[in-house]
Amino acid sequence: MRILGLETSCDETAAAIYDGSLRAHVLHSQAAMHAEYGGVVPELAARDHVGRIQDLVDETLNQAGLRARELDGIAYTAGPGLIGALLVGGAFAAGLSRALGIPLIGVHHLEGHLLAPMLEADVPSFPFVALLVSGGHTLLALVEGVGRYAILGETLDDAAGEAFDKTAKALGLPYPGGPELAKLAESGTPGRFKFPRPMIDRPGLDFSFSGLKTAVLTALPKATDAAGRADLARGFEDAVTDTLAIKCARALDETGLSRLVVAGGVGANRRLRARLADMATARGAALHFPRPEFCTDNAAMIAYAGWARLSAGEPGQALAARARWPLTELNVPLAAAA
Ligand code: KG4
Ligand code: ZN
Repeated sequence: MRILGLETSCDETAAAIYDGSLRAHVLHSQAAMHAEYGGVVPELAARDHVGRIQDLVDETLNQAGLRARELDGIAYTAGPGLIGALLVGGAFAAGLSRALGIPLIGVHHLEGHLLAPMLEADVPSFPFVALLVSGGHTLLALVEGVGRYAILGETLDDAAGEAFDKTAKALGLPYPGGPELAKLAESGTPGRFKFPRPMIDRPGLDFSFSGLKTAVLTALPKATDAAGRADLARGFEDAVTDTLAIKCARALDETGLSRLVVAGGVGANRRLRARLADMATARGAALHFPRPEFCTDNAAMIAYAGWARLSAGEPGQALAARARWPLTELNVPLAAAA
């Protein structure tokens, strides 16, 4: 099955083709356009997707050396995300699938992220523990198979990426803040600013990052020069990555599993990758990451998720765009959920 995947849930327009291996993938990031507003402007995001999606699909087909009529199905991100942005990808996918007479499948954006490590050579086998850390979500899940997800813990307030972005903004860094803060932290001295590791003293696998953001704001007046701000960035990054690693170790203990998969934008963070690698090595656990470009939003993961579902014999069907959509709703057959 040759599946075209489309991603338009936020500020990336992306297209990819997956047929058992990844044939092509292209992406346009709107980050520069939103930077002057300090965050994603939903209306601008939707309009930009409209202007780009056709060219990106053409480019993907060219890269793969295929014509549209050689496609067997179309997968698109149906949610969660910005509703206007989602509708662009959904409407484009619906039109193309009708014109070509091929199935259409709406994919859950977080399922895409969770399955992104399947695009790499070292494919994790089920079941595994997944840490999903993005701009909108932070959760630990037990993944037993495609469409079989149990939430082990999640954030009670800010997502990890959101905490990175808000802290970066407080430090005067440009949007998108997460990667900028990580860059600044590279020259910082570890230990000069010590921040709490939220929720690690309490049992359970939930997270909370809003207090950490407040602690950084309180410490900000002490970071008077560039070196001080780098030290503060390093202190924040260490607190987040430590907290995530401690909770991942606890999730492996509680499930008795020895496979950890990391996905979502913050999974591109180098210090998090190193910290989790140390933790996994110390316990003899296997660790799987997508390559950094497949940690952040992309269409390869959407094409893969659609391919996995259609190849398993699921009927294709369009789902309405959904701004909110709990991941565990996927555990019932899609036909019943629609
Ligand atoms: O998964 P993603 O691309 O979009 C969502 O679905 O949210 O994640 C974006 C988030 C942003 O908050 C961004 O700042 C963060 O991931 N991020 C990073 C890094 N790269 C992206 N955070 C820390 N370090 C990075 N290197
Ligand atoms: Zn995402």
